[in-house]
Amino acid sequence: MKIAVVEGDGIGREVIPVALRVLKEFLPDADYFPVEVGYDKWERTGYACTGNEIDALKSADIILFGAVTTPPDPDYRSIVLQIRHELDLYANVRPVHGDNFDIVIVRENTEGMYSGIEWTESDRACTVRVITKKGCTRIAQFACRITKQRKHLTIGNKANVLKSDSLFREICLKEAAAAGIMCSTQYIDALALDILMRPENYDVIVTTNIFGDILSDVSAYLVGGLGLIPSANIGSRYALFEPVHGSAPDIAGQNIANPIAAVRSTALLLDHVKMPDEAKMIRDAIQNTISKGFTTPDLGGKCSTDQTGKKILDELRAIRRTA
Ligand code: NAI
Ligand code: MG
Repeated sequence: MKIAVVEGDGIGREVIPVALRVLKEFLPDADYFPVEVGYDKWERTGYACTGNEIDALKSADIILFGAVTTPPDPDYRSIVLQIRHELDLYANVRPVHGDNFDIVIVRENTEGMYSGIEWTESDRACTVRVITKKGCTRIAQFACRITKQRKHLTIGNKANVLKSDSLFREICLKEAAAAGIMCSTQYIDALALDILMRPENYDVIVTTNIFGDILSDVSAYLVGGLGLIPSANIGSRYALFEPVHGSAPDIAGQNIANPIAAVRSTALLLDHVKMPDEAKMIRDAIQNTISKGFTTPDLGGKCSTDQTGKKILDELRAIRRTA
């Protein structure tokens, strides 16, 4: 198995080495190779991500990705979006799990507000929100497949205002009916509040690109912040696993970033390669680490990134010894 490892910028360089050490416990013989993309590379070379890097990513079976900085420079195009487009990683899956709730947010990852079709005129700037039948159908079918193994699908949308979301909602409803799953629709603004007030009411949520981006960050509130939520970016050919958080320049270089989101991303990776028992061991090791109080400052603890990572590894090895 070929695994491309992209640390990226900022805390990506701190949390990915921790995640990699955990992954190598279960996949010691995989062919790991680094791929450098991001803002640091852009500053050094003038390129953030070239065709060479895209080819390298495409040569891998799996990609483990940290985070990259996207500066607010109009000439700089987000390479996260570029990679999602080029590898056609159309489904962004973000599990949010707590004591009384277990939610999976499925976000369409290639179109909508992040279509990349935009321009600036003298007195305005325009972004075209593109929702296609093909895009809706495949994300709806993807969400229905997940829901089949669970209970209920919520279709987050703004069909009351946006024609593009009417299409999205209509196709999701059609696919849910065809799959024979329970489903309901909810306006995304009300949903953003309700997920915080009554998270136990939600199971699988499917929504369009920008709404899913916002909703998954909002729902991080339920679990203690962005340092905890992993994600899988899945296409029909490629798969990329990354923490939901960004490069966090405000804390980068201090060895205090929470590595749990990145480590949980390796659990999603193992689920994807059909190693669910091993994925569960990683989740249990993280749970033990948190309950024993080995946490980074974002969770109120005093541990560094490396110390937390080492504790997770120790717990993992203890679990494996008794398994
Ligand atoms: P961010 O997720 O990097 O940080 C938001 C806040 O959460 C910050 O206060 C940060 O310190 C904290 N935080 C994030 N991850 C943490 C962790 N593991 N442990 C402890 N605290 C953590 O989002 P922000 O500030 O909006 O963006 C910073 C940069 O990251 C920007 O350049 C943005 O474009 C980029 N970004 C990249 C993403 C990616 O590569 N997939 C995703 C989101 C943002
Ligand atoms: Mg986001």
